[in-house]
Amino acid sequence: MKWRYGLALAGAVIILPLAALAAGNTERAAILADYAAKARAADPGFAGFSAQRGAALFRGSFTGGDARTPSCVSCHTADPRQPGRNAKTGRPIDPVAVSVDPRRYTDATQVDKHFTRDCKSVLGRDCTWPERGDYITFMMGQ
Ligand code: HEC
Repeated sequence: MKWRYGLALAGAVIILPLAALAAGNTERAAILADYAAKARAADPGFAGFSAQRGAALFRGSFTGGDARTPSCVSCHTADPRQPGRNAKTGRPIDPVAVSVDPRRYTDATQVDKHFTRDCKSVLGRDCTWPERGDYITFMMGQ
């Protein structure tokens, strides 16, 4: 069993840098680096992004925003690999998982605009830098 673990680990070490060269990953990494720098500036104790926290933000139910959208999944659906539907306008939304669309989270202006708008709709406030990074980190594994 042990060698399998070693093999998987070696695989991850080799595959991750290769995957980083895939389309869109340079731009996404730059956005994440920017958010990390801002998170660290706001809180010197900032210890990195978490996919788990990102999942909790994505799936969580909140009050304070628009009653039609208590959650990110209200529009993006519980499975980010599936198409969503805008709970306000009824318009379809393309899947937001990076595995389905490698161009997701690569245009900083678009990403910033949607975080501000969508977080206000769900939480009644903008998302923090750690929340933004957590969310993108979660979507990179989806
Ligand atoms: C009212 C519906 C709605 C809700 C609720 C919603 N979104 Fe969105 N979101 C959209 C639409 C519409 C787009 C733009 C269409 C697209 O990118 O395909 C979008 C796009 C985004 C993008 C940009 C994606 C990219 O590739 O640039 C981010 C980031 C995002 N949403 C984050 C969130 C987060 C975080 C939440 C929950 C706090 C959330 N959204 C909740 C409708 C919504």
